[in-house]
Amino acid sequence: MPRARSTQARRIRFNAFAVNGVGHQIPGLWRHPDDRSRDYTSLAHWTRLARLLEDGLFDGIFLADALGPYDVYGGSADAALRTAAKIPMNDPMMLVSAMAAVTENLGFGVTASTAAEHPYTFARRMSTLDHLTGGRIGWNVVTGYLKSAAQNLGARDQLSHDERYDHADEYLEVLYKLWEGSWEEDAVVLDASRDTFADPAKVHPIGHEGEYFTVPGVHLCEPSPQRTPVIYQAGASERGIRFAAAHAEAIFVAAPTLTQTREQVARIRAGLEAAGRGRDAARIYSLLTVVVDATDESAAAKHRDVFSYASETGNLVLNSGWSGIDLSRRDLDAPLDPVETNAIQTTVSSLSGAADADGRWTLRDSARINATGGPVVVGSGETVADALERFVAETDVDGFNLAYALNPGTWEDVVEHLVPVLQRRGRYPTEAEPGTLRARMFGAGDRLPAAHPGAAYRR
Ligand SMILES: Cc1cc2nc3c(=O)[nH]c(=O)nc-3n(C[C@H](O)[C@H](O)[C@H](O)COP(=O)(O)O)c2cc1C
Repeated sequence: MPRARSTQARRIRFNAFAVNGVGHQIPGLWRHPDDRSRDYTSLAHWTRLARLLEDGLFDGIFLADALGPYDVYGGSADAALRTAAKIPMNDPMMLVSAMAAVTENLGFGVTASTAAEHPYTFARRMSTLDHLTGGRIGWNVVTGYLKSAAQNLGARDQLSHDERYDHADEYLEVLYKLWEGSWEEDAVVLDASRDTFADPAKVHPIGHEGEYFTVPGVHLCEPSPQRTPVIYQAGASERGIRFAAAHAEAIFVAAPTLTQTREQVARIRAGLEAAGRGRDAARIYSLLTVVVDATDESAAAKHRDVFSYASETGNLVLNSGWSGIDLSRRDLDAPLDPVETNAIQTTVSSLSGAADADGRWTLRDSARINATGGPVVVGSGETVADALERFVAETDVDGFNLAYALNPGTWEDVVEHLVPVLQRRGRYPTEAEPGTLRARMFGAGDRLPAAHPGAAYRR
């Protein structure tokens, strides 16, 4: 694939994929002497990271979340606790104000489940963060996949896979009504002589009565810079893509092979088009782990060293949680056959569907790659930049959701060794881009575009 060096070359975008806990995509690496994940309880850890990512001109930091322990593996949370596989897990939203205070342009994509909180209170929390960040907030809409999370919130089980998306559709309808429709643009009049802060005739009760929610009243917050936060999503099943195509402005994909990534991206872009929004209405970021260093040799040595700390049990704990299948009971040296799940359908298809020229992958192979979240690219800045350019050309993604091997070492290495190469090749911005997150991502204003379904709730 010839390298595109002109200034017209397609830009490559980065997000950092983090979690407010010790163990993320690759359990076990917290044990590496250079890893600082253990400092997640310190605010300084997060403000330093925010500054680093802002200096590296990342689109944003994306904070994952889950609301229950990964207790599918072995039928209990024991292995998850032992390997710090997504537990402990602190609240991601609490980090945003502090990181916003030390940055000016970095975006924040915060994960929150539509199964967890009533949309009325959630709408206020997002509006508050949109105000405090100057319009830099995004929301990663997830519908949940852990039975343990539903049970700890008092339900017997979670809704079925597809009904979770129906429920989420109505959740978003309530939010759009609150964010876009409740307060008119000029509702805040600040007329001191008439003792009038806001004109009540311009603040409207939303009168929502649906299948899952009843919300009669007005939004508690005046309009924030973006009103609706940038909507992120990662659904990859047929129903998930339909949901993403309707709502999402940033879409995460995570497939173990380039072929699977290309197929997912093609289905997403077709879905966006079918939804009447245009195939480029959402930025698509592929999950990727990069190990980059000054030379190919030192990067390879770093990769061998760091990944020797990976925990196979922790990896299987994660894959069991995502797939809903207890992998402690499966033959790891055979391929996994596709099955129905009420957890993440896409995980089952990537665990069972991965193959290369030598045939179908064993469950052990797929699980290892799946948990890192796609290919791991190792090499010098030039080598990794070549790989990313090829990845973008072959899959049609807009950029990468960069998971870490070492925290924050992986991102420090990206900023030091990879970003300058991409900049030289005209693939990456060379200076800060001020503005709201939506304006930075699309260059077309702070608010939802007219073709987005949320815009229909405006007055
Ligand atoms: C990069 C990436 C990050 C994700 N982060 C989260 C997360 O933090 N919390 C969560 O509950 N689900 C997360 N998911 C899962 C998605 O919300 C969704 O359940 C999954 O992609 C499967 O969708 P599907 O059931 O339509 O196949 C993530 C998925 C991807 C690809």
